[in-house]
Order: sequence, then C-alpha cells, then structure tokens
Amino acid sequence: MKALVLSGGSGTRLRPFSYSMPKQLIPIANKPVLEHVLENIRDLGVTEVGVIVGGWAAEIAGVIGDGSRLGVRVTYIPQDRPLGLAHCVELARPFLGDEDFVMYLGDNMLPDGVEAIAEEFRTGRPAAQVVVHRVADPRAFGVVELGRDGAVRRLVEKPARPRSDLAMVGVYFFTARIHDAVAAIRPGARGELEITDAIQWLVDQGSAVRASEYRGYWKDTGRAEDVLECNRRLLAELGDRVVLGPGARVVRSVIEGPAIIGANTLIEDCHLGPDVSIGQDCVLRRTRLADSIVLDGATISEVPGLYGSMIGRSAVVMPADREKVQHRLLVGDHTRVELVA
Ligand code: TTP
Repeated sequence: MKALVLSGGSGTRLRPFSYSMPKQLIPIANKPVLEHVLENIRDLGVTEVGVIVGGWAAEIAGVIGDGSRLGVRVTYIPQDRPLGLAHCVELARPFLGDEDFVMYLGDNMLPDGVEAIAEEFRTGRPAAQVVVHRVADPRAFGVVELGRDGAVRRLVEKPARPRSDLAMVGVYFFTARIHDAVAAIRPGARGELEITDAIQWLVDQGSAVRASEYRGYWKDTGRAEDVLECNRRLLAELGDRVVLGPGARVVRSVIEGPAIIGANTLIEDCHLGPDVSIGQDCVLRRTRLADSIVLDGATISEVPGLYGSMIGRSAVVMPADREKVQHRLLVGDHTRVELVA
C-alpha cells in the first residue's frame, strides 16, 4: 500500500498564518502538523508517500526533505491550483500506479491512529473505505448514510438536514478502482473535482464502499481555534510535565505543565501555562501566558494576561510608550487583535 498526502490548498481559514506559511507546517506541540501526519502513516507500515504540494512546495520540502528523518520516502507531486481532492488523485496516478493507497488530508490530526481501520481495508479490499467520526452537528461535514448491511449508500456534502451523524474525516482507503471514478466525474458547484462525487460514483456503479468508525480524537486543523484545541489535546499526553528544548533557559519563572519550550528560548520573570507550546529562539519577559502557541523567534514582553493566542514567527508583542499613546499596532492583513480598553 502507498500513501497520498494532500498538502496543497489555500488555507484561507488560517489567515494570517497562511500568508507566510502553509497550514500543514503550523506546529502543534512544537511539531508541524504534516510531521504528525507522516508519522501516523508510517505507523500503518506504509513508507512510499506521495505529497501533493501547491505554492508552498519549497517550504514543505525544506522541512520534510526526502522523509527519511520520519521513516518514510517522500515523492513530491506539484499541483498548480487547488482544483479539488479528486484532482489530487488524478495528478498522483503515475506515482500510485495500480496500487492500493491511503489518502490523508495533510491538515487532519488523528493522534489515536487508524491501524485497525487500515487492517480492515487490507483484509476486505473494498473499492473505497471511508473513515467516519460521530459528530454532534454534521451540517458542516461530508455526511455518510449507510444501508442496513453497513455498506455506504450515499455521501452528501454539508447537508442542511443530515440523515446520519457520521462525518467523513480526512482519511480514505482506495483500490485502483478510484481512478475510473475520478476519470468519470466532472467538477462540482465549487469548480473542484470532489472526492465525495468520485466515491458516490463507485456506490452507483455497484462497487463495494465501506465506512469504518474512528472513535479516537480527530481534528481538522483548518482554523486557529482548532489548532489551539488540538495543541491542548496533544500536550495532555505530557500530564503536567514541562519539556525544555536544548539551550532553553528559564529564569525566575513559574511554568505550569503541560508545556513545551523550544531550543534556545529564554523565559524570564514569567508565569506560563498550562497548555503552552513555545517554539525555538523566542524571548518571553515579565509575561503571563496560558493556552497558546508561540512560533519560532517571537518576542513577548510585559504582557500580563495573554491566553488562547497564536503568535507568529518573529512577531513582537510588547507594551506601547505610555507617555504618548495607549496602543500602537503594526498588524498585517486578516490579523485578529483583542484588546482590553
Ligand atoms: P481544505 O482545508 O478543504 O482546503 P484549503 O486548504 O483550501 O483551506 P481553506 O478552506 O481554509 O481555504 O483542504 C483539505 C486538505 O487538502 C488541505 O491539507 C489542503 C489539501 N488540498 C490540496 O492539496 N489540493 C486541493 O486541491 C485541495 C482542495 C485541498
């Protein structure tokens, strides 16, 4: 079995971060989402991985390289424009050949692993096996309806009145039969080649399409709130520990775990945590910070109550000159700033 990881796309919901980096490289518990994804795939015993990349190809290759550090062998497959998930399958055809494969969205986190589902697919080899998760409000997701025999009968994108609570998560298992489906469909209302249409085509042709329920933690890290929630979930595995990277220094400070502090970061006169991930080469002084992600090279000084925040690479957060003004901001497009007047 091979793997196809989708790491292109536009990431509009993660602005302003996605202006300067691909969302798949946003660190969660100080490790890029895409690394979590590739490790998850390696845990399935799959080592040949095609990675679809868009405009951020060079940045992604700069971090992931040939994948050997993560125990996989990566082949990059460029996509000029984000024309849909099924378009990615079409582009990857030469890489995939006629092999079975797992398709994994590069911004989806399933830290509890999908080994059992992969095993089910390897045994039964239906044309497609989708992974579903029960959600309280399925209206924002692709929803799967099952027949009495448990086979997939219908897939509906973002239904106004969902007929089941089974949302499709970003992992799919396919045999080569999916290539016939992708060749048969046309772009949908969004102008994209939709993978749900391709899978529905398989159902309509009478091919076996199964659904397996994933009962672990799942997060699509498409928005900042999702990234922060997932960060809390991964840090929870540390208990109340504080992990310090090499060269990190903590001076006259209190850190409540769980927390991760990156290499060569300086924490001075601070009260941090719980639930903070701080990158490398940061400087934090006289600051109180909880439930947040700080990316590499950021500086935060004298901010007494910061929470639920994501601070970008080499960003500076500090007090204004009190003599002159109350606040002074140099804030980029689509940035969000919440101030107490
Ligand atoms: P989405 O999150 O659905 O799309 P997006 O990245 O454009 O995000 P936004 O809605 O915020 O603008 O994509 C899911 C994953 O698939 C994500 O990792 C990007 C990737 N993808 C591609 O690689 N190629 C594509 O054509 C599309 C649509 C997505």
